[in-house]
Amino acid sequence: MDDLKQSCYELSLPVTEKCNAISRDIDRANGKQMVQILRRCDAEIFEKKINNDSFQQTLYSSSVIQTMVDVAKRVEMILRDPEESLIVLSGCGTSGRIAFLLVTSFNEMLKAQNQKQICLYIIAGGDRALLTSQEAPEDDPALGALTLDKVCAGKKRVLFIGISCGMSAPFVAGQLDFCLKHLDVFTPVLLGFNPVHMARSEPMQNCSFHFKDVAERMTAVQRQKKAFVLNPVLGAEAISGSSRMKGGSATKIILETILLAGHEAAFRGKITMPECITARITTNEMVYETTYSHSDELAALIHKAGESLQMKAHVYYIGWHTLGVIGLTDASECIPTYGADFDDIRGFINNGFSEMKNKEGDLSSLGPQFVIGHKDFVDTILPTLSQNDMILFLFSVNDDLHEVTALADQVRRRTSNLHAIAHDLEKLTVPERVCNMFKTVLHLTWSFTSEEVNSFVMRQRWELSTKWCLNAISTGAHVLKGKVYMNYMIDLRVTNSKLYRRAINILQRFTGCAKSECERALLRAIYSTDDLSEDMTSADVWKHTDAANRRDQVVPTALVMIQCGCTLAEARHHLDCHPVIRDAVSACFSSSKNKSTVD
Ligand code: F6P
Repeated sequence: MDDLKQSCYELSLPVTEKCNAISRDIDRANGKQMVQILRRCDAEIFEKKINNDSFQQTLYSSSVIQTMVDVAKRVEMILRDPEESLIVLSGCGTSGRIAFLLVTSFNEMLKAQNQKQICLYIIAGGDRALLTSQEAPEDDPALGALTLDKVCAGKKRVLFIGISCGMSAPFVAGQLDFCLKHLDVFTPVLLGFNPVHMARSEPMQNCSFHFKDVAERMTAVQRQKKAFVLNPVLGAEAISGSSRMKGGSATKIILETILLAGHEAAFRGKITMPECITARITTNEMVYETTYSHSDELAALIHKAGESLQMKAHVYYIGWHTLGVIGLTDASECIPTYGADFDDIRGFINNGFSEMKNKEGDLSSLGPQFVIGHKDFVDTILPTLSQNDMILFLFSVNDDLHEVTALADQVRRRTSNLHAIAHDLEKLTVPERVCNMFKTVLHLTWSFTSEEVNSFVMRQRWELSTKWCLNAISTGAHVLKGKVYMNYMIDLRVTNSKLYRRAINILQRFTGCAKSECERALLRAIYSTDDLSEDMTSADVWKHTDAANRRDQVVPTALVMIQCGCTLAEARHHLDCHPVIRDAVSACFSSSKNKSTVD
C-alpha cells in the first residue's frame, strides 16, 4: 500500500483498531526491546495528550474524571441503600473477565465488612467464557438484553456498567439499549476507549440499531445525568486490536477507582472529589513505573516463554488467589488472539473453582480446558513435564509460602525451568530461601501506607502489575514464535463479526486491494474453495464466522492467495513450507515483489 493510501486507511479505523507506530517493528525485536516497546505503549494509558491531539479526552482529562466522580456517586447511593439495588458489570472476552474479577473482589470486600454483596458480573457466553474463548455470543444484542433483564428482575435500582473497549460488542449494545428503555430503574454507563463517533456503526444481528446509535443516545441522556459515557482514549494497542492489553488494564484501573471511591464515600464519609480520583489514577501510574522498572527480569521471562513455545512446549502459570485469576485470564486470551491451542499457555489456581467463586461453580466436568486447580496440575501435568516447559509461579508474601515452596519443590524434581513473579512489602519480604527456588524471580517490593497494608488496594496493585507482566510475557512469547507480522496478529481466529471485519482490514492493510477482493479471498479460505457459490457469498457474517470457527489459518491463507495470485491449494502449500506465520507472510511478499519486478 502506498503511503497516502496507508494513512487514509489508518485514519478510517477507530483508535482501538489502529496500528501503534511505537510497536510497528515488534516482530523483529528481542525480549529486551519488546519490554521497552510495551512500556512505551502502556505509558499512553496515562498520557495527557495522545498524538499531540488536545481534542481527544484521555484518562486524566477533567471531563473523564468528572464522569468517574458522577458514577462513583451512583455507587455510593446504591451502597447506602442496597435493598432491591444492584451494580452490574458486563462485557465480552477480557472485558467480561475483568468484570468478573472486580465484582468478586468487591463483593468479598463488602462481605468482610458485613455489607450486602450487591455486585454482579455478566460475561457473554456464561462462565465457560472466563476460561475459554466464546466469541459468538458477543454478536447477540438480544441475548445481552435478556441476560441483563433476568439478573435484574425485581430490582428497583440498577447501576449497569457495560464494558466494550472497542465500543463495538453487540452483546453490550443490546444491554445499554435495554437500560435506555428503562431509565426509571437503570443508570447505564458505557466504558470504552474510542471517541463516540468512532463507535461501531455496522448493522447487528436481528437489530434495528447499531453500537454508535446507542453510544449517541447515551451521550444525549448524559446531559441529564441519567446515563454516562466513559471513553478516554488510550492510543492504539501494542498488538493491533488486542484490547486485552491497554483496554483491559484501563478497565481495571477505572472501575476499581470508581468502586472504591463509592465505597469510601458510603462507609467512611469521604466525599468523592475529582482530586481523589486523580490521585488513585496516579497511584496506578506508579504501579506501572514499578513494574516496568524490572525490565531485565521481564525480558528474561519473555525469552524463556518464547523458547518454550518455539519448541512446541508449554508455559504454565501457577497462581495463588486473584493472581491465579490473572494467570487464567491471560492464558485464555491467547487462544483467540494468536490462534493458540488451549494448552500452549495454561493457568492454574490454588483450590481451583472454589477459589474462583464464579457464579456457575465447578466447571471441571466440561473438559480439560476447565481443569484449573493446583492439584489438577500436579496430577495431570507434572508427570509429563519436560525441561522445555516453562513454569511461572505467581504469588505474594501474603499467600501460603509453605504451599508455594512445597509445590516448587515438586516441580523442581522434574524441571529447573521454574520461575516466579513475587510481590512483597518493604516490611515483609518473601524470604530468600523461597526466592532461591526459582531460576528467575521478578521480585517486586511495594511500599504501602499502614492504611493500605492488607487492604484490597494492595491486592489490586499486585494484580495489575502481574497483568502487565503476563501480557508482556504471553505477547512476547507469541511474537518470538512468529505469530505476529509487524504488529498485527495475523493468525487471529475469525469467530465473530468484529474479528471478521478486522480480518478484512488486515488483508486490505497488507495487500492494498479493495475490500471486496479481500473479502472474497477470506471467504475462499473460510469455505475452503476456489469457487465460491452464490449461497456462500450471499450468506450473512454470522454464517461465515461459524464456518471460520472450524478452520485454521484463514487470514494467512487469504493473504497468500491475494498476494501471490494463487489457488487455495498453492497458498496452503506455501504456509505448510513455512510453519512460522511471519516467515510465510514475508516470503510471500518478497516473492510477489520479485515477480512484479520481473514482469
Ligand atoms: O471478540 C473477541 C474479543 O476481541 C476479545 O479478545 C476481547 O477481549 C473481547 O472481544 C471484547 O472486546 P471489547 O471490549 O472491545 O468489546
